[in-house]
Amino acid sequence: MIAAVPLPPAWALLCYILAIALFARGIKLLTSARTAVTGNRVAGVGMLIAIGVTFGYLQSAGLLQGTWELYIFPAAVVGALVGGVWARRVPMTAMPQMVAMFNGMGGGAAALIALGDFHRLTTGLAPGAPGLGLIDSGTILLSCLIGSVSFAGSMIAFAKLQEMMRGTPITWPLQHEINGALLLALVVIGAVVMAMGGGGILMIVFFGGALALGVMAVLPVGGADMPVIIALLNAFTGVAAAVTGFVIGNYVLVVAGALVGASGSILTLLMAQAMNRPITNVLFGAFGKVTAGGEGGGAFAGKEVRPTSAEDLAVLLAYSQQVIFVPGYGLAVARAQHEVKELADQLKARGVRVLYAIHPVAGRMPGHMNVLLAEADVPYEELKEMDQVNPEFPRTDVAVVIGANDVVNPAALNDASSPIYGMPILRADQAKRVVVLKRSMRPGFAGIENELFYHDNTLMLFGDAKESVAKLVAEVKLQAA
Ligand code: TAP
Repeated sequence: MIAAVPLPPAWALLCYILAIALFARGIKLLTSARTAVTGNRVAGVGMLIAIGVTFGYLQSAGLLQGTWELYIFPAAVVGALVGGVWARRVPMTAMPQMVAMFNGMGGGAAALIALGDFHRLTTGLAPGAPGLGLIDSGTILLSCLIGSVSFAGSMIAFAKLQEMMRGTPITWPLQHEINGALLLALVVIGAVVMAMGGGGILMIVFFGGALALGVMAVLPVGGADMPVIIALLNAFTGVAAAVTGFVIGNYVLVVAGALVGASGSILTLLMAQAMNRPITNVLFGAFGKVTAGGEGGGAFAGKEVRPTSAEDLAVLLAYSQQVIFVPGYGLAVARAQHEVKELADQLKARGVRVLYAIHPVAGRMPGHMNVLLAEADVPYEELKEMDQVNPEFPRTDVAVVIGANDVVNPAALNDASSPIYGMPILRADQAKRVVVLKRSMRPGFAGIENELFYHDNTLMLFGDAKESVAKLVAEVKLQAA
């Protein structure tokens, strides 16, 4: 810890332990969709305690010197209002960019705190007085570097996902070499700052260089790969916050940052694993370019698909014994979850067994389908994870694929040249009948065609998923009448 920052008093430390216990309990509760909302609240109470106690002991030690009323409290109120209103209003499909923005703010805050401490500790030193020690300056530099990369990278991720800039990979010649040279330059500048124990101008150059590195590292990542990169940047923010905790001697920040760093890293690896892509490939692979004929050209040119109608499909569904819904990104775009639940209720009333097959990377963020279906009050026990549900497909009369594409693409199993080769898929292709609800023959996220659409047992119901499912509900009701 850097000199001149007082240690928290015993009462504050006890409250910090309580806050840390609430963080840990909150994370535990987040592991199930049923308890996730409570988990969020529990961790939020922990954070409120941590913030309140920190300001409380600093104020009672007279360290805030009037800044509390003038700056900190008003800024906290404005921040809480903006964050709260935005989080309530954001549509589910725009959640990744909101997370990117919030995450970027955390990284930026960590970098600014480190810069502020550097300024406080190095200005006004008498000529010849010893500057910052190696550990202190090293910690500040690390916090500034990681926090700035996370902030700038998250802002680019936000702009791409919000379609404020081109979402596809933006590349340039010698990209990796230039990024590598920039990182090396930052290491050299950092070493000089550490050797000098100060150097305001150099520190500003270091800060600017770290921001540029964040921008240049995220520009080449494909827009649709952003959720993975956001999880990684989230882990960076956690590490930056933990290091900042050391800089300012705040233990609860060290623990909170470490929790975010560890969970962000695990999430990044799990997402990359579920997409069967090494994380280096996400970072350096410029994935997300369309690789096949988007409108049904390419390898399947000339092959016919079999369109169906809501009327015919309703009869097929109504006389089935088991139906599995396979939701994907298109369900989120169409916001069709309530109609799907209504269709399931209609079918269950006719004695049909209904299940939902959940692929770990269906949609565009972890748990995307679970959240949407929970919003429509779909019973948890009907949601089946991939390993549980795959053995069910061969004994299923109809697999209804609603706005999903890559997660049911058999190319992942049998085409070694496919970018998704090796990704585990939902075996909808093994059902007696497959019906795919989508608007066109356009590909999904991976930009590749799907041979499932051309299988003999596959029917296509073209149209917006919400409208198609609403028609199905009406038709199934007619069957019952
Ligand atoms: P996708 O493969 O992206 O396919 C979505 C399909 O939905 C599209 O083919 C689209 O076809 C259809 N669609 C879009 N809007 C629709 C609407 N209003 N009504 C009906 N259909 C609509 O989705 P998926 O199967 O869920 O796979 C997810 C992909 O995202 C995977 O490749 C995964 O690796 C990737 N990814 C996932 C995550 C996480 S964590 N979930 C993170 C990053 C990347 P039309 O345009 O023809 O309608």
